[in-house]
Amino acid sequence: QKEGFRYFMEKETYEQSAVVSDILTGRIGKGGIRLDELPADWLKRFSSITLCACGTSYHAALTGAYLLERLAKVPTRVEIASEFRYREPILDPTGLFAVISQSGETADTLEALKLASAQGLETLALCNVDNSSIVRAASHTVLLRAGIEKGVASTKAFTAQVMALWLLAIYWGQARSELSEETLARELDALRRVRVAVKVQPRVHDRLHRLSKRYLHGHGFFFIGRDIFYPLALEGALKLKEISYLHAEGYPAGEMKHGPIALADAELFTVALMPRSCLHEKIKSNVEELSARDATIVAITTEYFELADDIIQIRAYDHPMLEFFEMMVVLQLLALEIAVRLGNDVDMPRNLAKSVTVE
Ligand code: M6R
Repeated sequence: QKEGFRYFMEKETYEQSAVVSDILTGRIGKGGIRLDELPADWLKRFSSITLCACGTSYHAALTGAYLLERLAKVPTRVEIASEFRYREPILDPTGLFAVISQSGETADTLEALKLASAQGLETLALCNVDNSSIVRAASHTVLLRAGIEKGVASTKAFTAQVMALWLLAIYWGQARSELSEETLARELDALRRVRVAVKVQPRVHDRLHRLSKRYLHGHGFFFIGRDIFYPLALEGALKLKEISYLHAEGYPAGEMKHGPIALADAELFTVALMPRSCLHEKIKSNVEELSARDATIVAITTEYFELADDIIQIRAYDHPMLEFFEMMVVLQLLALEIAVRLGNDVDMPRNLAKSVTVE
């Protein structure tokens, strides 16, 4: 069943290109995006959206907030389900409440959904499992089309979640007439190229395999990024934590100087997400500050960067989402290769279950 791969997580990482094709099937037309599950008139009624989830799905939600505000111009709030449930939240009665879940069975996410429904809000589930508890409880659903995900560390479901949110942002932007023809064309063109961006390049996988042996010691990792690369940094750190058991933290790069930079030294490995197309000079200067404090820098970037101790080169794109997806694959494989070298069971990490059905 692993079809020649060592682990399901590895197989699922390699499947992402096919998953992206499935997600886009029937959804890109001449006039833009079609999301038949959600009538445009229904969507247009809402003045805001709340995205609620746990773990990796929460990181997808954070990414979605950038996309929804930028493309649909809809005020977006993101909530961790376990916190949301107990803090007596005040919800926008004219807003849409959306949950994101691979399994559709995560207890906190399900309860958050019920809470919003009980307050009379319309609800949307972005979910990978049809007929799951979350799908049954939501008023509307967009199925993620990632296929069965077996690895405890989520890979292709994250891709599917971010894709679904991106499609929703464009679709909603169209419905609200917020997208210029030029922007729409640019988004559609980028969507069509994701398939290529998420395809694992043997050159990159081989490089990560060789590089991983240098990063098995030390006292921890920082993953840093800005804009949509901040939630991606959180996701990269979570992947590494889950399967390697090494300490890793994701941080918005601009926040480092507000405290965490005190930790910087040569044994602190900083994985810097340095896209060409998004706040490049800003992240560069954040990394310069860390390098000046002797942090060891692993730069994921499109070009030579003199301060990097190691560079993982990705292809240059003119759209941040394409750099996002290509970097995402790098982070998934980096975590995998480090965990394998440490002798861990990547598909069954200690203390974790695929689906968290208790709070
Ligand atoms: O099934 P869900 O998407 O609701 O699960 C949420 C989290 O438990 C899940 O994303 C978890 O963080 C993964 N193990 C991450 O790889």
